Amino acid sequence: MAEFDVIVVGAGPGGYVAAIRAAQLGLKTAVVEGRETLGGTCLNVGCIPSKALLNATHQLHEVHENFEKMGLIGGAPKVDWAKMQDYKQDVVNGNTKGIEFLFKKNKITWLKGWGSIPAAGQVKVGEDIHLAKNIIIASGSEPSALPGITVDEETVVTSTGALSLKKIPKSLVVIGAGVIGLELGSAYSRLGTEVTVVEFLDAITPGMDGEVAKSLQKILTKQGLKFVLGAAVQGVEAKKGKATVTYKLRKDDSEAKIEAETVLVATGRRPYTAGLGLEALGVEMLPRGQIKTDDHFRTTVPGIYAIGDAIVGPMLAHKAEDEGMAVAEIIAGKHGHVNYGVIPGVIYTTPEVSSVGKTEEQLKEEGRAYKIGKFPFMGNARAKAVFQAEGFVKILADKETDRILGAHIIGPGAGDLIHEICVGMEFGAAAQDIALTCHAHPTYSEAVREAALACGDGAIHA
Ligand code: FAD
Ligand code: NAI
Repeated sequence: MAEFDVIVVGAGPGGYVAAIRAAQLGLKTAVVEGRETLGGTCLNVGCIPSKALLNATHQLHEVHENFEKMGLIGGAPKVDWAKMQDYKQDVVNGNTKGIEFLFKKNKITWLKGWGSIPAAGQVKVGEDIHLAKNIIIASGSEPSALPGITVDEETVVTSTGALSLKKIPKSLVVIGAGVIGLELGSAYSRLGTEVTVVEFLDAITPGMDGEVAKSLQKILTKQGLKFVLGAAVQGVEAKKGKATVTYKLRKDDSEAKIEAETVLVATGRRPYTAGLGLEALGVEMLPRGQIKTDDHFRTTVPGIYAIGDAIVGPMLAHKAEDEGMAVAEIIAGKHGHVNYGVIPGVIYTTPEVSSVGKTEEQLKEEGRAYKIGKFPFMGNARAKAVFQAEGFVKILADKETDRILGAHIIGPGAGDLIHEICVGMEFGAAAQDIALTCHAHPTYSEAVREAALACGDGAIHA
């Protein structure tokens, strides 16, 4: 029976980061992981494979849409789907192996198998019981089910099936215009699939700044995606490699059907805690299935902590990673902390979309006095050169103090640009601090500075 300072259950971004930090802080650390490879949902069937497919199909989109404009003439490349899948898998393998290397480097023990917690201080894997002074649950999440829909991962798929379809479907209905639906819908649309996204609400990407969501919908529609909004899906019937989706329009209760070769159910994810034995342990759960924790990631059972998708908060890899670092630091007697007010969100469509802090809708609801600094990428030389001048940068700042309250970007490199704002917000920056910072020309970042200038005396190039 081995004894550890920390045993982490789950080797996703939350768990593996917690383990690395714990080991760096001198704690004897083990991680239990039931999958064949490390990295969790994110590396195996989430962030990484989806970004590989988005990259490959983005290149194809460029060939079709923009190459000729740049004087690059020649036949468009043929898509070898099997090879594209191999590329995606190579990217996944490279990353999961990378975590294995980091475990070895940091002397972290990988306990292979599915773990349960028979009692505080004990983790059972197979027949073996391992002792741990501290246990961190980082068991992640799984796709949430929709009543009346049976997922077979062939015709009716979750994101996991959608990442590994046997062939490129002629038609795809995506249920849910959230992040998964739009990213994977975009990828297939660029491969020539006719994509229809059916969304319950009246706008796509709920929770996102309304103006950005509208702009994204317009751009994706231009790219060929179809949207049916305000539609409650009633059921999906799959027969002989075809599926029929029935939905009701909420405005008038009228019913309609769409047929497609494949249906992607992308209506959210729920915490995965099955098999851990939490109920018997007396770990308190929240009504939506998350493990209840305090602001030090402690569950209601002493010595057991929880992080990542299994607890409240946005289901994002970097949120899980930050919690992983913080909980390890707390266990080691340091002051781990996560600033939930500054967690960026990115959608990796083309153009990318990113956001941090408050949306305009939230500020209105809070009755806060704010000002908007907006700058269109149309005024950014670099964006125009890559045919991505449709979006904008929008900075929301306190009307009195000029302190940045939020930022929302739709445009080239938005996922990277947002971090300048994140750092600013961590330092309590005013929009003027960014406006006064010299930005290299020609870069997309200039659009961020221009939006900051627009919070003051005005942008130069608009
Ligand atoms: P997970 O990554 O889910 O890892 C949990 C691990 O625990 C799993 O490997 C599981 O096998 C293991 N486990 C569970 N129970 C046990 C047990 N009892 N014993 C042993 N092992 C166990 N987020 C982003 O920030 N950016 C993105 O671009 C992004 N893209 C995504 C794309 C898709 C298609 C999906 C589905 C998700 C995406 N996400 C993205 C979300 C991201 O994957 C999750 O937020 C993140 O993986 C959560 O990390 P985690 O460590 O909490 O859990
Ligand atoms: P989501 O919560 O982003 O979107 C789900 C969508 O489905 C919502 O728009 C919702 O209104 C809609 N919906 C729910 N029930 C419906 C119904 N019956 N009929 C029609 N529409 C319905 O969830 P999604 O896209 O499944 O992603 C899950 C999680 O994975 C998210 O929390 C996200 O944070 C994470 N993720 C993050 C990515 C990123 O950071 N780039 C990429 C992919 C996933």
